[in-house]
Amino acid sequence: MAKITLEGQEHTYPVIVGTEGEKAIDTRKLRTDTGYITFDEGYGNTGSCQSNITFINGEKGILRYRGYPIDQLASGASFLSCAYLIIYGELPTQDQLDTFRDKVRENANLHEDFKHHFQGFPQNSHPMAVLSSMLNSLGCYYPDMSSNDREKDLANFDTAAALLISKVRTIAAMTYRMHRGMPFVYPRRDLRYVENFLHMMFTEPYNLYEPIPEVTRALDLFLLLHADHEQNCSTSTVRMVASGGANLFASVSAGVCALWGPLHGGANSAVIRMLSDIHASGDDGSRFIEAAKNGKARLMGFGHRVYKNFDPRAKIFATAAEDLLKALGQKDPLLDIAKRLQEAALEDPYFVDRKLYPNVDFYSGIVLRAIGIPVDMYTVMFAIGRMPGWIANWREVTENNKRIYRPRQVYTGPKERTFQPIEERDGHRR
Ligand SMILES: CC(C)(COP(=O)(O)OP(=O)(O)OC[C@H]1O[C@@H](n2cnc3c(N)ncnc32)[C@H](O)[C@@H]1OP(=O)(O)O)[C@@H](O)C(=O)NCCC(=O)NCCS
Repeated sequence: MAKITLEGQEHTYPVIVGTEGEKAIDTRKLRTDTGYITFDEGYGNTGSCQSNITFINGEKGILRYRGYPIDQLASGASFLSCAYLIIYGELPTQDQLDTFRDKVRENANLHEDFKHHFQGFPQNSHPMAVLSSMLNSLGCYYPDMSSNDREKDLANFDTAAALLISKVRTIAAMTYRMHRGMPFVYPRRDLRYVENFLHMMFTEPYNLYEPIPEVTRALDLFLLLHADHEQNCSTSTVRMVASGGANLFASVSAGVCALWGPLHGGANSAVIRMLSDIHASGDDGSRFIEAAKNGKARLMGFGHRVYKNFDPRAKIFATAAEDLLKALGQKDPLLDIAKRLQEAALEDPYFVDRKLYPNVDFYSGIVLRAIGIPVDMYTVMFAIGRMPGWIANWREVTENNKRIYRPRQVYTGPKERTFQPIEERDGHRR
């Protein structure tokens, strides 16, 4: 029990303890009892829900999907088996994985009419704008899965989940090709998830994309490492939209919009732009570090609301970037700059005192660059990876028939005043 004393009166509130010992004061009755609300702009200390999906301990640098440490999954599982784990709560058996994979494979293609949607966009539209619109439009082709009737949408959940995991990849590849004025390429039934994506991205009319195992593995790892991350900005958005009873397609489409910003999923492309600028200016990183300390620049890919230690995904990406470049026989000067920035920042009191460490985005762009994915597609790649997490969170809200998410505020605007007709207002032209 927690005791809160307000205006001389003591009130007691239950304490909720999570399976990993995380403690929260349950203040749901606080306002009814006292007239007070809690104030926590940015939600740094607010538990918005109870969830069974992902656990993070930011102080210790721990991330687990459904209890499994991220490093074990990264070395032993594929993206699709992690997607299954995140959505259904258990690692799949071989049969379950085969069925899931088949469902994903069967659902790769888009309705031919979809081409018209792409044609309706200016060619240089941002891929995240296109992706969000397309995911919402997709729901219109499947009215039984996007009815906004919770029971009906849940009855079709298995198909909707596999369909979205599959089609988000097709839409992403089509967006890339639209941007470049290239003909769309249909998915192939004989290819696995990541190879099929690379085929749809890079096959040309007279030049079939030949899969490179190291590239396939690196991209699979990229998706796996992004698959969920508890109550981040986009996942909270998905839950918020779901809490109003909206269907899965509308909810994940909103998730894409929330992901777009540079403080969230947009950071991976911002990192590469930052590293490229540093490289072009001939700086070895030290001038940039000074600028970041003086508030004139932000070291993108550093810092995190929850991690006050290494983001475990950053460590895995750092190794993956090195391994991939080596396997491809490439050198990337941006990797050298990133490593120098990291070294300097981890020794600098400004970053040490504020507990700013590399996050998932610091090295992930170097992996995508080596694969040949252009910078404007990086956040789209993040969205493909995050789809299982959004789907699982939508289901958690919808299945448990959660109340609508509706925060309170502390109003700081004008007090009540009386309306004046326009001719009586100051500055009225006579
Ligand atoms: C992720 C992020 C938005 C978290 O923000 P937050 O929890 O609100 O943290 P704050 O912005 O309050 O930062 C705390 C302090 O560290 C500083 N700081 C945080 N991230 C910083 C960065 N990347 N570079 C330089 N300074 C940074 C802030 O200026 C603030 O300094 P102050 O105490 O002197 O005012 C923030 O660290 C950031 O902008 N990072 C870069 C973008 C990025 O990589 N995003 C991807 C996240 S996965």
